[in-house]
Amino acid sequence: MCGIMGYVGPQQAAPVLLDGLRRLEYRGYDSAGVAVTNGKIDVRKAEGKIDRLANLLDDEPLHGTVGIGHTRWATHGEPSDVNAHPHTDPSGQFVVVHNGIIENFQTLREALQEDGHDFTSDTDTEILAHLVANEYEGDLENAVRRAVAKAEGAYALVVMTKHEPGKIVAVRRISPLIVGLGDGETFLASDIPAVLHRTRDFLIVEDGEMVVVTENGAVIETIAGEPVAREVMHIDWDAEQAEKGGFDHFMLKEIHEQPAVVTETLGGRLDEDGTAWLEDVHFDDDFARDFDELWITACGTAYHAGLVGKEIFRRLLRIPTTVEYAHEMRYNDPLISDRSLTVAISQSGETADTLAAARLAKERGSRLLSLTNVVGSTLSREADDILYTRAGPEISVASTKAYLAMLIAQYLLALRIGRARGVVDEGLAARVAHGLSLLPGQVEQLLHREEEVIAAAEEILDAEDVYFIGRGLDYAVAMEGSLKLKEISYLHSEAMPAGELKHGTLALITAGTPVIVVLTQQALYDKTISAVQEVKARGGKVLAIAYEDDDQIHKFAHSVLRIPRADDLLGPVAAVVPLQLLAYHVARLRGHDIDQPRNLAKSVTVE
Ligand code: AGP
Repeated sequence: MCGIMGYVGPQQAAPVLLDGLRRLEYRGYDSAGVAVTNGKIDVRKAEGKIDRLANLLDDEPLHGTVGIGHTRWATHGEPSDVNAHPHTDPSGQFVVVHNGIIENFQTLREALQEDGHDFTSDTDTEILAHLVANEYEGDLENAVRRAVAKAEGAYALVVMTKHEPGKIVAVRRISPLIVGLGDGETFLASDIPAVLHRTRDFLIVEDGEMVVVTENGAVIETIAGEPVAREVMHIDWDAEQAEKGGFDHFMLKEIHEQPAVVTETLGGRLDEDGTAWLEDVHFDDDFARDFDELWITACGTAYHAGLVGKEIFRRLLRIPTTVEYAHEMRYNDPLISDRSLTVAISQSGETADTLAAARLAKERGSRLLSLTNVVGSTLSREADDILYTRAGPEISVASTKAYLAMLIAQYLLALRIGRARGVVDEGLAARVAHGLSLLPGQVEQLLHREEEVIAAAEEILDAEDVYFIGRGLDYAVAMEGSLKLKEISYLHSEAMPAGELKHGTLALITAGTPVIVVLTQQALYDKTISAVQEVKARGGKVLAIAYEDDDQIHKFAHSVLRIPRADDLLGPVAAVVPLQLLAYHVARLRGHDIDQPRNLAKSVTVE
């Protein structure tokens, strides 16, 4: 999704902007550009990776200490030099970058064309530059206010004009925007990691607000002009966390961070007897006892974490639990009520569909608990209760450590609710707590078995299709394993409940077809093995994820990746690690851009 940078201060703006844009690369993009003011407005932009823009800037440097920058992820108009941001008005006196979608773009464009405006790009953004220029009467804030009053949709819009040097004006409607406060310099960005190495003090711009940025700081008010008092947020993340730290890819680094992530997410939140202390979960025991049903909503990997959550809540709490893709739930008139607790899961806390589903749940009277990795994200700010995953910044588009942290957080939540409802007794709570405390060591152990995973990756490298099967919690993990593989290796893969195979997909299993089976659920072991037999009988190549003391599986599987023995309820945590590594190594061996897979964005902030 698009990335935004802005800078006002004593330094040359272009290198600062470029550096910030590079740190936003994880959001995914197809072109990049920067603009500076220096008595006039100069723009450089290029389709493709930021290096192309950097080369352009080497050839034609920009001079000026106030500037804005952008990485674009195409929505209106193909990726191209011309469609890349920034965009100017025809006179070149106003320049904008924009993240989001202007929904009434066509109507606005036609109206402007009737008034004689010509457009150089196919973007919705260029219209905003024209609108601001049209509305300008000597006051940029007022011009931006009047311009955005005409625009419908989601945006973070950042504007500069040569008439008011030393100033950047930005407005936010839905798409994220933050301000970094430096010493005699101020930064704007769509995400904190862009400038975390430059400052630790931030202002979060909320929906419906305008911010005016100068070298002396930032003033926030509502778009309507009401003053806003915003507290400075101090962020403790280690800047090192946002770097690759010696690994070839962020994804591998993030996989290897998982033992620490589990420890962090559990840290200070769980007593040995299974009592959970969740600092920002504010509901009391009465609420925990009384609500009737749980809804979980999310997209992608976060949805898969929700599938695990459903099973955890079903088993531990015996509460009816529904998991819905957020993009489905927002339009399917869900039967959520004021007797519900809705858990919205999102690593970024900015996924547009998840935000919409969460808002819908709230409108229907549900209490909203946001399970997110990003402190201060929109999802966290709109929630009644927040459960932060503490995974640190996740840079790779393919989510790994955030997923694991989401699982851990859901075990904690189940313990918190289960103890209050009296359905998780002391023995069970202590058993789960003990199992959780072993996980960092177990995950660490798995990371030392990478050679076995590489051998398995070599086996499936050239497959046309890969199938993942499992039952119950294993099926939930299989879903995530399949998504990981497809998003970075570009191999076609599908996950399904093991029992479903014989109802159709078995027709696709022929000699050598790889089938990956997850086998942590002991109660369902024999049933899953029946499906494995069906695969074997058709010549399929079975790769099993099984406990280290499983002394049967070698009879059925072509190869086995062993995981440490755990309580079945906690099995998914260890089982997903070899699947993440498998996806990583298949993609690496196939020579792909692992951290930024084609067509995908880290944070999907449009519908
Ligand atoms: C995960 O590997 C994917 N990149 C994607 O499915 C992601 O989980 C999804 O877009 C949801 O993102 P969120 O957790 O930030 O809401």
